[in-house]
Amino acid sequence: MVSASGAPILEVQSLTKRFGGLTAVKNLSFDLYGGEILGLIGPNGSGKSTAMKSIMGIERPTSGTVLFRGDNIAGLPPHRIARQGFGMVFQHSRPLNRQTVLENIMVALLPDSLLKVFADRALVERARAIAERVGLGAVVDRRPPTLPFADLRRLELAKAIARDPKIVLVDEPFAGLTLAEVAMFSDLIRSFRDDGRAVLLVDHNVKSVAALVDRVLAMYLGEEIVTGRADEVMRNETVRRVYLGGAIETSARPEASFADKVPLLQVDNVSVQYGKAQALQGVSIHVHEGEFVSLVGLNGAGKTTLFNAISGLLPYGGTILRGGAPLRGRTPAQIARSGVVHCPETRELFGEMSVRENLDLGGQHLSEEARSRQLAWLFELFPILEERQGQTAQTLSGGEQQMLAIGRALMMQPKILILDEPTLGLAPVILEQLSKALEKLRQTTSITVLLGEQNVTFALPHADRVYVIEHGRIIWEGDPGRFAAEAGEGYL
Ligand SMILES: Nc1ncnc2c1ncn2[C@@H]1O[C@H](COP(=O)(O)OP(=O)(O)OP(=O)(O)O)[C@@H](O)[C@H]1O
Ligand SMILES: [Mg+2]
Repeated sequence: MVSASGAPILEVQSLTKRFGGLTAVKNLSFDLYGGEILGLIGPNGSGKSTAMKSIMGIERPTSGTVLFRGDNIAGLPPHRIARQGFGMVFQHSRPLNRQTVLENIMVALLPDSLLKVFADRALVERARAIAERVGLGAVVDRRPPTLPFADLRRLELAKAIARDPKIVLVDEPFAGLTLAEVAMFSDLIRSFRDDGRAVLLVDHNVKSVAALVDRVLAMYLGEEIVTGRADEVMRNETVRRVYLGGAIETSARPEASFADKVPLLQVDNVSVQYGKAQALQGVSIHVHEGEFVSLVGLNGAGKTTLFNAISGLLPYGGTILRGGAPLRGRTPAQIARSGVVHCPETRELFGEMSVRENLDLGGQHLSEEARSRQLAWLFELFPILEERQGQTAQTLSGGEQQMLAIGRALMMQPKILILDEPTLGLAPVILEQLSKALEKLRQTTSITVLLGEQNVTFALPHADRVYVIEHGRIIWEGDPGRFAAEAGEGYL
């Protein structure tokens, strides 16, 4: 702790936020000091994002007090709270896509008027300095849609610190980042603390949070469980039970045990080009019926491109066969109907529709009876989806949305389920649940799974076989037991 002495800069007292009958945050109290990083952890839907938004004024607190340097700011509109010295990094990036990176930062510097994007010298200089600080110096003239994922998150950090806030609220900065990127982001957040700012940090990457924070507050169902030093909190029995969960068990089956002569899915020498960039280069993989195959690779390695090619969303060179028959020439809809179901990284939920409507869309090809059977089975895997059938998808927490996306894919009763980074934003305990759900799927159905992940602690235990993809090429193939020794560098 740098200067966590004297009076706290922020005092949250009995903060409560209700949505109809649901209490998302309940009587939450904590203090935050300048020069301190406080971590906020808890399972999906425990109210972390809602607590941040209520402090920031984006959600109006139902009751409670939020004292900033002694003055109550609870209930003020967000722009007034921001102006007092608050910056927030949102869980999901929402840049202005038609503006450049520099312009996006300039808009953040002038929050009261979106239209004042004029090239004032001092403003440009300031925006450039911020871009440099967060590592965007080389891409200031690009537009967000052309940027890699980590740069989009950097842009959010840049916007949050643009006006030199005293308090920075950071929601899931590490989700989807590589180990190296997590280390860079940790340094950046540490530098905010060293500036004397107070930082409130939410993330499910337990190791990185523990390494970064001065204290942790663990919450569950909207309430505080315990606050203390990271190592103490992680040892707390309730925290272990509701958040960390147990170890994921492993059980790889040898390839020879899959007796099909023709693999269910065969990708042969596939190449994909985006303009001049070669995104996939001579990729060959196969997946047997009933097999669970993990494709491990960092962001940008080519996992999503490969899945998009399989799903018929991209032109490619080479061949892709399903049960021996070429998929080329079939539309994405035909490929999906043939049982190749792709659950994309971006989730593609219908935000305005309810949980139930999203699920029903997935199961629309089923008879009434089959659909309710599938739904009942799904609700057993993900009880939260049953509880929240009437809630609109866009108001679900990050992790709840992820479960809905997977649930909708399962409603299609896939022959082969392609999961692209399903662990993004999931709490460890939910990972364990998802892991059990996948294991149950494996044991009770003949489902075939192709999983793309950079989170190897999740990708390995379930896998019968693993491929590693790097820069658009497959560089390793083997069983998960050999992964650590032969290919683990950079992942473990
Ligand atoms: N506008 C809303 N209407 C109804 N329920 C809501 C609304 N916003 C949030 N919720 C619910 O409040 C609960 C807390 O959500 P919140 O987003 O704060 O969770 P979280 O701890 O950030 O979870 P995650 O780690 O998955 O992001 C969730 O169950 C969510 O579905
Ligand atoms: Mg959240």
